[in-house]
Order: sequence, then structure tokens, then C-alpha cells
Amino acid sequence: MTEKQLSDLILPEHIGIIMDGNGRWAKQRGLERSEGHKAGANVFRNICNYGADIGLKYMTFYAFSTENWKRPPKEVASLMKLFRDYLDEAEQRVKENEKRGLKFHLVGEKKGLPGDIVRKLDALERRSADKDVMTVNLAINYGGRDELVHAFKALARRVKAGDLNPDDISEKDISDNIFTSGQPDPDLIIRPSGEYRLSNFMIWQAAYSEFWYSDILWPDFTSDDLDKAIIDYCKRSRRFGGV
Ligand code: IPE
Ligand code: IPE
Ligand code: MG
Repeated sequence: MTEKQLSDLILPEHIGIIMDGNGRWAKQRGLERSEGHKAGANVFRNICNYGADIGLKYMTFYAFSTENWKRPPKEVASLMKLFRDYLDEAEQRVKENEKRGLKFHLVGEKKGLPGDIVRKLDALERRSADKDVMTVNLAINYGGRDELVHAFKALARRVKAGDLNPDDISEKDISDNIFTSGQPDPDLIIRPSGEYRLSNFMIWQAAYSEFWYSDILWPDFTSDDLDKAIIDYCKRSRRFGGV
């Protein structure tokens, strides 16, 4: 995006991306699915940096859903290895990420993830907690329904303890008890790969999100595609139920 375009646009504050199509990208090339995930991980790095450079405040990257555990163990292992590699590299690139002002946050369930990955994620969150250019939400072992179940359990516990009257439960109570607590809802959700569904991504937060779909497979996604999605978003009229 040129400086001129950037200065003319009111950017979305929060973009969510469903990084889909890695497997098909690999298949088209006669490669293993894990190669597609590797290529997808590199695109994630580029798009994340680009988002921070143009001034986005929040980006959420859907990397592994609570349903993705159904995949063959070999594929799950290859994805876990990529998360591990990324987290190790983030440790090595701490200066670069700090300079860019990236604050990392896990949106997803720690339970079920390998212990070393949880420890690396915790360390990355702690180390970047004071950064304020852009928040990078890593949606790993994330499910929209799963996070709502956790929120309802937390509220039920408060009701049981006598801290909360059920009649007083508000939408804000739910927003405050999910992984994106304190963050704005995604303004724009991007799904490449030609699928037109949320696949359990931010089902609560997406109530008024704008959607942008494309046939591009995630490993082929470029910063120009992100620009296109943002420019389309900027042309839309969001009414939030009003007139
Ligand atoms: C997205 O790519 C990555 C994950 C879901 C982990 P896919 O692996 O779903 O790729 P396709 O949809 O099979 O092409
Ligand atoms: C959604 O993609 C999850 C991620 C991109 C992490 P899937 O490939 O799992 O979704 P479905 O199965 O096509 O709905
Ligand atoms: Mg897929």
C-alpha cells in the first residue's frame, strides 16, 4: 500500500485471518501436506510484519482449531513442530519483534497442547506484554464454541459462589471471559482458499465483522491481497443494525 493510500483510508483496527488452503497448495505441487504448512507459516510471518508496518492494531491468525486434532497424527506433529520452530525463532528474533512492537497473545486452550509449546508461548507473551504497536493473536487449539463453554463455566462458578446474579449477566460479561477479553472485535475476517465458512472461528466476536473471501490458497497470499481486502473493507457501509 502506498503512503498516499494509507493516509486516505481508515484502516480496520482488528483483522482475523483463517489461514486455509495449505494442504491443497501442497497437493497441487505433488508435495506432502506438511510442506504446505511450512510455506503457510512463512506467509504468516510476512503478513504479520506487513500488518504491523501499515498500522493495524490487532491481527488474529487462525493456525490450529480444536477440530484439527482429528487430522492424521503425522500431520498434527508437523504442525506442532512448526509452532515450536516459530516460537524458538521468535526467541532468537526478540530484538526484531521488539523493534516492531509486536505483542503476542495466545487465543486458544493451553490444555491439550504439548507442554513445551505452552511454556514457549507463555514466555513469548510475558516478554512482549509491554509492546503496543500491534497485538498478534495466535489462535492455536482455538475453537469459538470451546471458548464460550469456558466463559459460561466461569460465570456459572461466580453465580454459585454468590458473586453474580444470573439476571445481571450481560454481553460484556461474556466478552470479558473469552480469550480476546479487552480487545475490539475483528472488523474484518479474511478467509482464503475458496471456502465460505467460519469453521468455529470467533463465532461470538464475528457478530458484526465484515467478511472477505478469496480463492487464493494461503501459501500464495501476499501483502497485495491484504491490501485488496482492506480497500474492499473500506468501501463497505457498516450499520450495526442502525440506519
Ligand atoms: C490450513 O490449511 C491449516 C490448518 C488447518 C492447520 P489446511 O491444512 O486446512 O489446507 P486444506 O484446506 O486442506 O487445503
Ligand atoms: C480452519 O480450517 C482452521 C484453520 C485454518 C486453522 P480447516 O481446514 O480446519 O476448516 P474446514 O475443515 O475446511 O472447515
Ligand atoms: Mg482447510
